[in-house]
Amino acid sequence: MEIMTSFFNICYLRLVFLRLNTYMGLLIKNIKGLVQVEEKPKLKVCGKDMSLINRISDAYLFLENGQISDFGKMADMPCKFNTSGNTDIQMIDASGKFVFPSFCDSHTHLVYAGSREQEFTDKIRGLSYEEIAEKGGGILNSARKLNETSENELFNQSMIRVNEIISLGTGAVEIKSGYGLNLAAELKMLRVIKRIKETSPLEVKATFLGAHAVPAEFKDNRKKYVDVVISEMIPAVSLEELADYIDVFCDKGFFTVEETERILMAGLKYGLQAKIHANELDFSGGVQVGIKYDALSVDHLERSGDAEIEALKGRETMPTLLPGSSFFTGLPEPPARKMIDAGLPVALASDYNPGSSPSGNMKLVMSLACINLKMLPEEAINAVTINSAYAMGLSETHGSIAQGKVANIFITKEIPSYEFLPYAFGSNLIETIILKGKIIN
Ligand code: NIG
Ligand code: FE
Repeated sequence: MEIMTSFFNICYLRLVFLRLNTYMGLLIKNIKGLVQVEEKPKLKVCGKDMSLINRISDAYLFLENGQISDFGKMADMPCKFNTSGNTDIQMIDASGKFVFPSFCDSHTHLVYAGSREQEFTDKIRGLSYEEIAEKGGGILNSARKLNETSENELFNQSMIRVNEIISLGTGAVEIKSGYGLNLAAELKMLRVIKRIKETSPLEVKATFLGAHAVPAEFKDNRKKYVDVVISEMIPAVSLEELADYIDVFCDKGFFTVEETERILMAGLKYGLQAKIHANELDFSGGVQVGIKYDALSVDHLERSGDAEIEALKGRETMPTLLPGSSFFTGLPEPPARKMIDAGLPVALASDYNPGSSPSGNMKLVMSLACINLKMLPEEAINAVTINSAYAMGLSETHGSIAQGKVANIFITKEIPSYEFLPYAFGSNLIETIILKGKIIN
């Protein structure tokens, strides 16, 4: 009996302890500007509407059970949120600060081994992409390093980048394979992505990119490599349920439209929707083939003209631009202005990878989009939140401040306006990160 009583006492004490330490919700009050709020959530924003951002000044935001529960003007805040003496609710005072939905980064290659700063130096000295590749650089260089790295080591290296992008305001990320280029190493990459999904607070989508480059041993028989991708890799990836999407680098010197079609058809048989690399190096037909197979997104698009813009009109495929990549490689900028003016939606992503964009900083991506692509700050905000959420199949749950959406947000330092975020391109202005309703830092 005595044993039972003390057992119940311990349980009671634990309950009291838990109650004192577990808040029922998180209230952020006195917010100078609550940015990207939606009463009626949309899946994406197109054309002229991209220059509009709904926001509430002098606002509150209440997060509960990992979701956005309530928001509005401070003057209308229900008295149940009055926190004086209310120990159930944790409170943050955001006077002078802005609250944004976390960035959604819909195109990255952040699982890779080592780095390629030697190629960076070679490029500065004037070597072309082809010359660098001949010296053993490029995608095949990353593939060699990755094949020599254990799964655990690859996970540890990648988690450093994952934690870095979390601190930079990203709340959801798509990560591609494509530096394995053989069955075992592609599976290794995808298993690392799966571990990131399971262990980090980020929302993660995985994309199989076996057709990123033709490995040297298949140089004289590219058809055979495409066959390996189709008949060995795709079935094995599906069997382990390691991928949400499938990608092909459909471009000059990489994979042709015909090869891309074969791979996308094979992917569709296993339920893998396409998100493809298109029109980076040439007018490759990548945009058109992506649309033909109902790709969720076509990405890069540095070489896009009227035909590509026409082809994208009225379609569900999201044109996704990667201004970090054109900035770093010196390639022409994609025609963002023409696309938006033609009524298209545009998403922005970082392309975080060791060769063409060694940065996952989405705030910098916004600045580059404003400065180099001539996108308005409002257009850039839509492109890094709701439209990039769409480009990874997440816009029902992420990408805006709307009731019931996942509570992924960041609070800025004290700043004068929301435009200040892309304007102050080199400043770290993000102060507090909240993912799935939990304060991360
Ligand atoms: O998105 N363009 C193809 N793939 C990557 C670059 C890969 C690399 O150089 O490692 C990209 O830019
Ligand atoms: Fe890429």
